[in-house]
Amino acid sequence: MYIDLSNAKTTISQALTDQAETYRKQLFSGTMENTGWVDLPWNMAGDILDRIQQTADEIAGKCRLFIVVGIGGSYLGARAVIDALNGDQPGRPHVMFAGYNMTGAHLDKVVEAMKEQATCLCVISKSGSTLEPLLAYSILKEEMFAKYGEKEAKKRIYVITGLQDNPLRQDIEKYGFSSYYIPENIGGRFSVLSIVGLLPIAVAGFNIRQLLQGAASLSMEHIVDYACTRILLQQGGKDIEVFTYFSTNLRFFGEWLKQLVGETEGKDGKGVFPACLCFSRDLHAVGQFLQQGHQIFYETMIQYKRAQADFVIPDCVGEPFAGKMLEQINRCSEAGVVKAHSEGGIPVIVVNVEQVDEYNIGQLIYFFELSEAISAMLLGVNPFDQPGVENYKMNTKRLVESL
Ligand code: PA5
Repeated sequence: MYIDLSNAKTTISQALTDQAETYRKQLFSGTMENTGWVDLPWNMAGDILDRIQQTADEIAGKCRLFIVVGIGGSYLGARAVIDALNGDQPGRPHVMFAGYNMTGAHLDKVVEAMKEQATCLCVISKSGSTLEPLLAYSILKEEMFAKYGEKEAKKRIYVITGLQDNPLRQDIEKYGFSSYYIPENIGGRFSVLSIVGLLPIAVAGFNIRQLLQGAASLSMEHIVDYACTRILLQQGGKDIEVFTYFSTNLRFFGEWLKQLVGETEGKDGKGVFPACLCFSRDLHAVGQFLQQGHQIFYETMIQYKRAQADFVIPDCVGEPFAGKMLEQINRCSEAGVVKAHSEGGIPVIVVNVEQVDEYNIGQLIYFFELSEAISAMLLGVNPFDQPGVENYKMNTKRLVESL
């Protein structure tokens, strides 16, 4: 993996680099709260990984549909990886996500899918009390009990939650559901390389060992440069970071990034607003704005060298496209966009990986987690809380109480 800052339109001072490097070391010092995630690429390897794989294979052996209930960091990481790697794998269950909304029509689809297929249910919530997943879980648990009877349903429900007392923990004790715990020092949006992301990813049939190996192999050199560049661009008046990619498979990776950035640095009146755009589709939606509209953003483009699948363009298309590979043309469009955007005045940062596979996705995850935490520290905000989200939760609860 490498990053190209040649179109970023910034010059990083030694003082800023030194500051960022100090923060990077602080993250790894073992003395900072909520940094349990920095060691996951190494700590998860070994026995714990074997246990997760065993549970995943056991789940895959007894269902065709694996419903994962969670929201925010308890959902987006797994979804991002599964989508990036092409979703359904032969012989493995379809992983369906729920509990990230309170839309009856969506839950209805999940319940309908459950009726037709052998199902296992997994709820993931560190606090165990987040409204959206708790409501979906309670409804789906009832459906599981109705479909299988309590004795069999109990063997098909998995709970991943924090150690503190909460409604999910009470259910683990009451029903004896299989469970894993989320360590206190790992927050939601930094948890994809923990049990939170690894179990669903392994159930879907992807190689979680390679995911961790990719993360562990990340070279630290670019992390600090990226964090410093982001801060300089923000200081230069860029209020929006647009994450772009030329693969629809990276759509949910963009959603994961949006949450990582939004909740980590958007506080105390600081931070960029994160947006994600999937090209070519969005070039035909907001490409015009990017090129010539209000220049309040910079772009971080994720590129890959080798495509997951490819096609030869048939002769009937004519010159200059006939006989070329589809992804070759996609790469030309990518290079054309970088050039056009850069010439149009948009600072463009390119993050490039060999290909979209477990190893490289692991690197990308860890790269963005570390650089985002350092960025927040450079901004002078706590990377690991989300007090604004708590406010909306309390308001909702109060309004429900008054119904
Ligand atoms: O990053 C975070 O900490 C949040 O986005 C949480 O993941 C999200 O609010 C869900 O919380 P919980 O896992 O407690 O249900």
